[in-house]
Amino acid sequence: MKTIVIAGGSGFLGQVLENQLTKNGYTVLLLTRFPKKENDMYWDANTLGKWTIALENSEALINLTGKSVDCRYTDKNKKEIYDSRINATQILGKAILQCKQPPKIWMNASTATIYRHSIDKKMTEQNGEIGNDFSMNIAKAWEKEFNQFETHKTRKVILRTSIVLGKNGGALIPLKTLAKFGLGGNQGRGNQKVSFIHEEDFVRAVEFILNRPNLNGVFNVTVPNPTNNMILMKTIRKKIGMPFGISHPEWLLKIGAKIIGTETELVLKSRNVIPERLLQEGFSFKYPTIETTISNLLN
Ligand SMILES: NC(=O)c1ccc[n+]([C@@H]2O[C@H](COP(=O)([O-])OP(=O)(O)OC[C@H]3O[C@@H](n4cnc5c(N)ncnc54)[C@H](OP(=O)(O)O)[C@@H]3O)[C@@H](O)[C@H]2O)c1
Repeated sequence: MKTIVIAGGSGFLGQVLENQLTKNGYTVLLLTRFPKKENDMYWDANTLGKWTIALENSEALINLTGKSVDCRYTDKNKKEIYDSRINATQILGKAILQCKQPPKIWMNASTATIYRHSIDKKMTEQNGEIGNDFSMNIAKAWEKEFNQFETHKTRKVILRTSIVLGKNGGALIPLKTLAKFGLGGNQGRGNQKVSFIHEEDFVRAVEFILNRPNLNGVFNVTVPNPTNNMILMKTIRKKIGMPFGISHPEWLLKIGAKIIGTETELVLKSRNVIPERLLQEGFSFKYPTIETTISNLLN
């Protein structure tokens, strides 16, 4: 049986992947700091240990490890956001280099947030402009760490994933709650682009790359046509039958974010990212629009 190891696989995306990959016939092993299930293996995301055995002869290693960015960017949180990503990537690279039969492919999470705020310019893998704030610098350091490993028997892919919308996790849950209470209007001006992908298409894209041995390098994992915040919120309101939604100007969002312990960047940054390479390779999206995505997820 083919084994896929998911580091940081206990979270939202890891669980979506585990469910589908298991259904598709793979044995899935998860690397976690808090093992609970039979297929969980302990690691500290920082040092080599018994977990490295899991990588021998495996089909793939998918690394999703990272402290959630849905928090206040205090110095302590910033350090943890950085360390959790860089250290995990580094130790996985070292573990692969020690393997006799390393994984055939190593996919490492990155983020579509690596591209600068953009309303008009579409960011492709080739032409996208990478900026210089905290989040973008984290993403750059994360990819730099990954890119420094030369793994001759293991092809390497970077997943620059946009906001994943899912039934049981991710950004859609709080947005739906806001809409339910009549608070689901625009966030900020509402014209900021939203790059997103349905959880099912995220898994399909991962499997698409997994099954094509010629593919490596950077992939934007996101729908071909980003929506914007106003249309996203309108589509959610329509689907749940809420006739109105109070909007939140930027100043109010700033206060609210402080109270609930998050950052406004998560909703105000304009993400205009295009999956040029997936399209060139012939990947087709099951849920290419916000309407089909929301309609399926909030059913
Ligand atoms: N969700 C999205 O829309 C999205 C979009 C783009 C990129 N990404 C990236 O994709 C990855 C997975 O996303 P997700 O939504 O599945 O995240 P998640 O639910 O927060 O899960 C992340 C995993 O990382 C591990 N982790 C958390 N803090 C850690 C720390 N301080 N040290 C070591 N491990 C730690 C956790 O595993 P244990 O606690 O079990 O050890 C957890 O299962 C993240 O790196 C995220 O930045 C996500």
